[in-house]
Amino acid sequence: MSNTPSALDLYAKVEDLLGVKEAAPRLYAHYLLALQAIDFRSLLDVGCGSGDFIVQLQGAFPEVRFEGIDLSPEMVRRAGEQGVDARCIDLCDVRECYDVVTCVFDMLNYLSPEELPAFLNCLKERLNPGGVLLCDLNTLYGFEEVAVGAFTAEDDRRFVAIESDFEAGVYEADFTLFEREGECWRKSSQTIRQYHYSPEEIAGLLGAEMVQRDPVTLYAEEPDKAFLVYTLPA
Ligand SMILES: C[S@@+](CC[C@H](N)C(=O)[O-])C[C@H]1O[C@@H](n2cnc3c(N)ncnc32)[C@H](O)[C@@H]1O
Repeated sequence: MSNTPSALDLYAKVEDLLGVKEAAPRLYAHYLLALQAIDFRSLLDVGCGSGDFIVQLQGAFPEVRFEGIDLSPEMVRRAGEQGVDARCIDLCDVRECYDVVTCVFDMLNYLSPEELPAFLNCLKERLNPGGVLLCDLNTLYGFEEVAVGAFTAEDDRRFVAIESDFEAGVYEADFTLFEREGECWRKSSQTIRQYHYSPEEIAGLLGAEMVQRDPVTLYAEEPDKAFLVYTLPA
């Protein structure tokens, strides 16, 4: 089952309460290091979120053309506020080609098994010959031991509760958000799903060679993610 734009927008509204922004720089460091070894002039960040990753890259690679896309209108609005060239558009509707595509911080895990093959096919078509995909995937340990459970967070205008479970390769996080509106609170509920994939499955579906695979430990003592680099034939 695919994640709806409404569910992605609810996530966008609470992401800053989840500790994600604090952990992200440690993940981005893997991308920055790998990109320093690549000669590239254009990069598309798929699932660019609020644009933090592109903002970092723009500082490190001033000559490169950066664009972001995301299916959450709220995320795209936030990315635009940071000056990022971001669009709310499906990858398969993008017409331009790029030297590098990135899918950062769980983006590929958001795709259902029904969506993944077509998504990777479109991704391949958007890469120039010899193009490179940099991405990360949650490990089984990350899903089973780190992501599951109950979590609440709040500030003076929001309260969010998340109940999450992982079963048969599917992670389901039920979000309930209360947003202050004057004297009242508006309640909304959405489910975000993620799916477990192995690095080899991505290589097979993409028809690309996996040239780098690094363990990433963001939230625990064992690797909860893998950082991956794939290259297409020249
Ligand atoms: C966990 S967030 C990571 C955001 C960003 N990459 C970062 O590092 O902060 C995952 C993002 O993927 C987006 N997303 C999920 N499925 C998508 C799809 N099929 N196409 C584009 N974006 C998608 C979500 O809206 C969300 O912004």
